[in-house]
Amino acid sequence: MRLEVRPAVGPMRGRARVPGDKSIGHRAVLFGALGQGCSHVRGLSGGEDNARTVALLEALGVRIVRLDAHALDVHGAGLEALRASERPLECGNSGTTMRLCAGLLAGVPGRHVLVGDAYLHRRPMRRVAAPLGAMGAVLGGAPGGKPGEVYPPLSIEGRRPLAGGHHVCEVASAQVKSAILLAGLAADGPVTVSEPGPSRDHTERMLRARGVPLSVQGLTVTLDPRGWDGRIAALDVAVPGDPSSAAFLAVAAAIVPGSEVRIDGILLNPTRTGFLDALCAMGADVVIDDRRDVGGEPVGALVVRARELQATTIAGELVVRALDELPVLAVAAACAEGTTVIRDASELRVKESDRVATTVRMLRTLGVCAEERPDGLVIEGRAGRPLGVGRVDSAGDHRIAMAGAIAALLSDGPCEIDDADNVRTSFPSFVATMRALGADLEER
Ligand code: S3P
Repeated sequence: MRLEVRPAVGPMRGRARVPGDKSIGHRAVLFGALGQGCSHVRGLSGGEDNARTVALLEALGVRIVRLDAHALDVHGAGLEALRASERPLECGNSGTTMRLCAGLLAGVPGRHVLVGDAYLHRRPMRRVAAPLGAMGAVLGGAPGGKPGEVYPPLSIEGRRPLAGGHHVCEVASAQVKSAILLAGLAADGPVTVSEPGPSRDHTERMLRARGVPLSVQGLTVTLDPRGWDGRIAALDVAVPGDPSSAAFLAVAAAIVPGSEVRIDGILLNPTRTGFLDALCAMGADVVIDDRRDVGGEPVGALVVRARELQATTIAGELVVRALDELPVLAVAAACAEGTTVIRDASELRVKESDRVATTVRMLRTLGVCAEERPDGLVIEGRAGRPLGVGRVDSAGDHRIAMAGAIAALLSDGPCEIDDADNVRTSFPSFVATMRALGADLEER
C-alpha cells in the first residue's frame, strides 16, 4: 500500500481521537492472561501489533473472548496454566510482543519458538537473550548483521524456577526491563533491573496495581517474590489514547499554518511525553486540557495550534522519553527556523527500521538538508519555505510512513509514501483521522 498526500491548502482543524496506547495494550492483555479470573480490556488500538500478543497468548492456552475490534475479555488462570505451543509463535512486526513474551516464556517449562516478519528478524535480541539466559532459561537465535548479536527466530527452553539476580542494562529499554520482570515472576529470589535512563514504566505501574511485590527506586526496579503467594489480580483496563500516534497529529497541527487540533484522551505518562517537551522547546503552542487519572495513568486532551517553530537540541533522557516520536519531531525540525540536533539516539538504529537512516532519507527525498550522525541526526529547518516533492520509501516502518505523510503536507506538490502497509500495526485509522482534520491524502 502507498499513501498519496497532497499539500495542505488550508489549516488542520477539529477534534480527534487516536487508537489506544500500544504499550499499555500489550501489557493489559499479557497481565490479564497471568491474572486470576477475567480482565476486561477496552480501548485497544485495533492495530496488528496488539493482535499479535493476543493470538500468541491464545496459542499458549489462554481463553480470550473478542467483544469487538477494541475490546476483549482475557480469562487468566495464572502463569502455571500456560502451556508450550507445538507451533512457532508469530510476532509479526511487533518487537514488544517478541521481547516481552520471551521474558514470559523463559519461566514456562518447555520449548518455545518466536518468529516474526522480515523486519523483526533484523532486530537484535541479545539484549533479552543474555539476561534471560543468566536467569536459567536457554535461549538461541540466528546469527545475522552484527557479529555476536542474536536475531529471531528465537528459541527458548523455559524452566521454573528461574534464578533471581541484579541486571544492569546498557540501554534504557522498557522491552528489556519488562522481559526481565516477567521472567522474575517465575524466579525464586529477588530480581532487580537498573537502567541508564527513564524508559516507559507501564509494566511497573500495572504489575503493582495487580498486587505483584515490586518496588522502584530511581532507575532501579526490584521484584521480590519472598513471602508472596504468586497470585496476580485480574484487573479491567481502559486503554488511553496512544501519545506516539497523537504526535503525528500534534506535529501536523503545529506546522500547517492556521491549524488548531484537539486530541482527546491521550496518555500523559511522563516517560512518554518527551515529544511534547521537545515541541514546547521549539516554541509550539500546546495546551493540556481535561487532565485526569485513568487506571493509574495520567490522561488529558492535547490542544495544538500552529505557530512558527525554532530549532532545538534533543538529547539525553529527553531522547528516551521521545524515542518513538523522533521521526515526526524531525519533520517539525525541518519546518523550523535553524538547525536541530538529535543526539544520544543510537537506539533509533534498531527500531522497525534504522530510523536514523530512514528519517534522513525521508527528509532528503522531500528536499530537506539532513545528515546522519552515528547517534542521531542534524536537520536544517526550512522555516516558511515549502518542502520539495518526492516519493518517500518508508522501508516498511509505520512511523517513517506517517512522519513522511505529515512532512508532505508542507510540500510543493503531491507526494507518495511507498511501503506504508505497516501503518496498520499501530494506527489503522491514520488516513481517516487525518482526512477528518482537513488533510488531503489517500491509500492506494
Ligand atoms: C516499547 C518500548 C520501546 C518502544 C516500543 C514500545 C514497549 O522500545 O520503542 O515502541 O512497549 O515496551 P525499547 O524498549 O526497545 O526502547
